[in-house]
Amino acid sequence: MIAAALDAREHAVAPYSRFQVGAALLTAKGEVVTGANVESASYSLTCCAERVALFKALTQGATSIVAIAVVARASKGPTPCGACRQLLAEYAPNATVWVADSARPDAVRTFSVASLLPDAFRKVPRQ
Ligand code: THU
Repeated sequence: MIAAALDAREHAVAPYSRFQVGAALLTAKGEVVTGANVESASYSLTCCAERVALFKALTQGATSIVAIAVVARASKGPTPCGACRQLLAEYAPNATVWVADSARPDAVRTFSVASLLPDAFRKVPRQ
């Protein structure tokens, strides 16, 4: 999964930050769906690698996500941002999250989604 994330990172579109991130998501059916970050000149439109992979998987019909690997050139690896944590909590609550520095891909840190976003908001209460 880390190797797949490293491959995906090659396709990051990050001309503004130059921070290239790759993600690889594993579905319960054993499919691997990859993504990389895509940036915009209107910076806030940027989409993280994790969300690109998650949105691809969901719109390809994935219903159960087992794990997601994320890599970037960052000491100890890139932990997902708050927005990605929210979406993972909603759509991949039981997933394992692996992160690694792309320069040290054998040093993988493992998290649960719940540990990254405790007490997540998951559902709008009926009004
Ligand atoms: N980014 C990701 O793709 N994933 C993360 O976990 C952290 C941040 C991207 C967004 C933006 O393109 C660049 O990294 C700098 O924030």
